Amino acid sequence: MQTLRDALSSDRDRAAFDDLSAGRPTVWIPGDAAPTGDGETLTDLPALVDRAEARFRWFAPLIEELFPGTRELGGIIESPLTKVSALSDALSQEFGRPVPRNLWVKRDDVLAVSGSVKSRGGIHEVLETALTVAADLGVDLSPGPTVFLERPVREKMATRRIVVGSTGNLGMSIGLMGAVLGFSVTVHMSHDAKQWKKDKLRNSGVEVVEHDTDFTEAVHAGRRAADADPRAHFIDDENSRSLFAGYAVAGRRLVGQLAAASVQVDEEHPLTVYLPCGIGGAPGGITYGLSTVFGDNVRCVFVEPVSMPAFMLGRLTGLDDGVSVTDIGRGELTVADGLAVGRPSGFVGATVGGLIAGYATVTDDDLMRALALAYDISALPLEPSACAGLLAAGCLEEGEPDNPGAHIAWLTGGSLMPDHEFAVLLEAGRRMVTAGTIS
Ligand SMILES: Cc1ncc(COP(=O)(O)O)c(C=O)c1O
Repeated sequence: MQTLRDALSSDRDRAAFDDLSAGRPTVWIPGDAAPTGDGETLTDLPALVDRAEARFRWFAPLIEELFPGTRELGGIIESPLTKVSALSDALSQEFGRPVPRNLWVKRDDVLAVSGSVKSRGGIHEVLETALTVAADLGVDLSPGPTVFLERPVREKMATRRIVVGSTGNLGMSIGLMGAVLGFSVTVHMSHDAKQWKKDKLRNSGVEVVEHDTDFTEAVHAGRRAADADPRAHFIDDENSRSLFAGYAVAGRRLVGQLAAASVQVDEEHPLTVYLPCGIGGAPGGITYGLSTVFGDNVRCVFVEPVSMPAFMLGRLTGLDDGVSVTDIGRGELTVADGLAVGRPSGFVGATVGGLIAGYATVTDDDLMRALALAYDISALPLEPSACAGLLAAGCLEEGEPDNPGAHIAWLTGGSLMPDHEFAVLLEAGRRMVTAGTIS
């Protein structure tokens, strides 16, 4: 641990490292010396994201038929953008610090199919895999995507397996989408995964393998099982370009939503986006997508729980997946099960590390307080992970309190949570909220 610290070049970086090691909430703004992204990797990405957008469009008639909630958008899986000034006031009062009033939420908590940000990437890789497998099995795709509803096609698809390791939400998106397309699906779940997510998957015909290990081990177990099965495709949360491209589509689509809401984004009105971060794929893909359209006028902040600051530690030390939170004595269980990742994606760090404006860590108690406020003030039923962005809102603002730009907290999960699960969380969160904030 001391060696990791000694290798840091500035007092600011060492202070951030000390906060991470002590499990104290912190904000780190990387300096110019911070490791930047690998330009070569970035050159392939625009074409990958174009193809992902085209796949989502091609499959839209099928998605519309399978998931009626997407009908309004013609089968496109997208979530609303909503302004939440009252919530910003409540957060400011509760946490005793300024929170920008120009605060918006991006509602991936209600995203179709699996109710989380992971829908975007997970569904994209399932769709891409379906096309590859269909071509391999000689399925005629000329009638369009609804061929996947035909029994003979589904029987063929069932001979192929998709395998994934997950803390919960990636497994949900891949399991639910894979199953409706007829695939056999196996999800390897880490010890953080919630029982209701396992139950939902099993009820949808997905095989769930439970591990009493952390997420990294669950992913590796999934990879080993898939390697041993020639009919299996492994969806690799640590390295997948397909997942990344699916997430990146969201960044591009946000342009139209901001324009429709008359939100200005330019040099004088920089957009700041707060993204809950686990392994880094979802926030990394979104950051990349946003940077392709807004360039330097967007600032993305990755937010992690104090017990699992994997991505920030990887960037701070420059080691990315060469370091784990256990190397600094952290790694405790967290209420933010979706963010419970001890070792980040090396691919994402190297690809978009240079695009990330800042990092923040948050405590479990604060996530619970934000969960209660989000529900009681703005009727947002969120899972704890999804509240992380709300807690970081305004964290880059020191020295520029008059920034007139918009701020977006990306709400990443919640709508599929069973009512009784949410009720327990809400009760716990309300007990932690300072008396008087919720009237
Ligand atoms: C609710 C929620 N938010 C955010 C994330 C972060 O995504 P990633 O692990 O790709 O960084 C996850 C990951 O599962 C999640 O479940």
